[in-house]
Amino acid sequence: MRQQLASDNYAGLCPEALNALVQANRGHAPSYGQDHWTAEACDQFRALFETPCEVFFVFNGTAANALALASLCHSYHSVVCHRYAHIETDECGAPEFFSHGAKLLLADGEAGKLDPARVEEIITRRGDIHYPKPRIVSLTQSTELGTVYRLSELRAIQQVVQRHGLSLHLDGARFANAVAALNVPPRALTVDCGVDVLCFGGSKNGLALGEAVLFFNLAAAEEFAYRCKQAGQLASKMRFLAAQWLGLLKEGAWLRYAAHANECASLLERELCALPEVELLFPRQANAVFVGLPEQVIVALRQRGWLFYTFIGLGGVRLMCAWDTEESTVRAFVADVKAAM
Ligand SMILES: Cc1ncc(COP(=O)(O)O)c(C=O)c1O
Repeated sequence: MRQQLASDNYAGLCPEALNALVQANRGHAPSYGQDHWTAEACDQFRALFETPCEVFFVFNGTAANALALASLCHSYHSVVCHRYAHIETDECGAPEFFSHGAKLLLADGEAGKLDPARVEEIITRRGDIHYPKPRIVSLTQSTELGTVYRLSELRAIQQVVQRHGLSLHLDGARFANAVAALNVPPRALTVDCGVDVLCFGGSKNGLALGEAVLFFNLAAAEEFAYRCKQAGQLASKMRFLAAQWLGLLKEGAWLRYAAHANECASLLERELCALPEVELLFPRQANAVFVGLPEQVIVALRQRGWLFYTFIGLGGVRLMCAWDTEESTVRAFVADVKAAM
């Protein structure tokens, strides 16, 4: 299939992760995370975040989010998240299922970002026994609409979270793209903003599959391994999940690739916005570009073989660049938009 702009999940495995897999494929190794690749990958994360976090490797983002949330709350609690949060719209109720019933309370906010005032309003709306007790605020960074929380915005959320004694969960399926966009150390966007648990996305950053769950709140990590096992998320051949991370983290490939994806999205945004009938729906701050296009252009693009989603967030065409996006793909897409117009 030609290279697409439909999703960063369409991309293959980056060479660093692939080489690491090949290296890890030598001989025998202890199973269930007792191997040295897993230990090294955990240490790499601790070095990257400059903190002694607890690290777990799971197969996908839904499991990472759902299990992380479950570890921070009881069944009678609630989780405040954005109306367009992946945990609300695209996880088939997994957070509610794995927490045995914790309710998601939906907040609004511009361009996919939680508004701290709205979050506080939801947290303080009810204090009686009949309402699920707010326990967690969940953010996505970068957001489902391709925007990025700036440090000041994260701190404003942190203040609300701390004022009410809640926990902070970060869905970082595209955390790397946010770090690349903001150009600050990962620690500044997480530990220093009071994040308890980060689900760090690997699949969209160049792995074949796999996400890392990082507990900065060490107490919350207690018995998390049992949750993973019970949920079918404990890989017996863990070395193959962990080794990929080693390849991605070791020489900064994770950040280079995320920056590359963001740059491709920036080029796409510039080229599309120069066309009269294209409407940019949200500020392009990471690797996603959301545009409004005339219906006949959408049909013509699909006829020319382009794949893309039109149901995410408020609708519109979502275009997503990945670690391997080529400039020629961006230019070919733009040329087809022009032709269709
Ligand atoms: C914001 C966000 N969170 C989490 C995920 C992870 O989902 P999956 O369970 O498909 O790996 C995705 C994938 O699209 C996502 O966009």
